[in-house]
Amino acid sequence: MIDGIVGLGGGSSLDAAKMASILLRFGGNLRDYLGENQVQGRGLPMVLIPTTAGTGSESTPNALFVVDGEKQAVVSRHLLPEAAIIDPALTLSAPPSITASAGVDALVHACETYTSLGSTPLSEMYSLRAVELIASSIRTAVWHGSDLKARTDMALGSFLAGVAITNAGTGAVHALAYPLGGKYRVAHGVSNSLMFPYVAEYNVVSNLTKFAILAKALGERVEGLSIRDAALSFVNGVKAIIRDVRLPETLAEVGIGPSDIPHLVEVASRQTRLLKNNPRLLTRDDIEAIYRRALGL
Ligand SMILES: [Fe+2]
Repeated sequence: MIDGIVGLGGGSSLDAAKMASILLRFGGNLRDYLGENQVQGRGLPMVLIPTTAGTGSESTPNALFVVDGEKQAVVSRHLLPEAAIIDPALTLSAPPSITASAGVDALVHACETYTSLGSTPLSEMYSLRAVELIASSIRTAVWHGSDLKARTDMALGSFLAGVAITNAGTGAVHALAYPLGGKYRVAHGVSNSLMFPYVAEYNVVSNLTKFAILAKALGERVEGLSIRDAALSFVNGVKAIIRDVRLPETLAEVGIGPSDIPHLVEVASRQTRLLKNNPRLLTRDDIEAIYRRALGL
């Protein structure tokens, strides 16, 4: 007899715990629940305890799995836990590479939700505070992992960004990163990090005011700049963080080449759940152009 579920670990572990809570109550197979709002009610009570500062899974209605070689999502409010215990001390032993990839994932959540077409004045507060917390602490958390202040700021930022996902949704960075995690099995945070600067470059002109605010929240100097230049400096801020925490900067570094583009475009263009939130409309040609830039073509 199982009374409840305790999920402890990174995002994948928490997502597995969420589905265990549903499957143990309602039975069936993971495939029965794929998509949005396919879960009929609350599963077994669950407590989620993250050991990385990244996915914010403890505060989102999403659970992601690789099914038939593609990342697919179960999305339901019934996946939100009864309680989350967020103790930054549990993240102290995460090595630099994990801290970096999880941390950039959280930063992408914060930035994408802030500019999402689904954002609201309430979700924007969560997003912007998350950007400030993560941008000011990620370098220290990666390179001086025992710094509890940095770990605390990262844990709080990751959680706040997760709340923003629940209310506003992520966008094209996640949509274009998903195919890297499916067929090519690139870690979620790394695949987001690889696409982040190129999608940001594409998106900036869609909302100069918001991207200028994000640039300032990243720590970029925007005083005296035109609104356009301030917004464009967001891309520089993103690239600087990715470089400083030493994540891969090119698709070639994870074994992806020009011949992979058709598959990437095909899978990414199907991520309508995410693409509909993006502040700038993307056609298939736009998606291909972004991948080509990420490949240095
Ligand atoms: Fe993510």
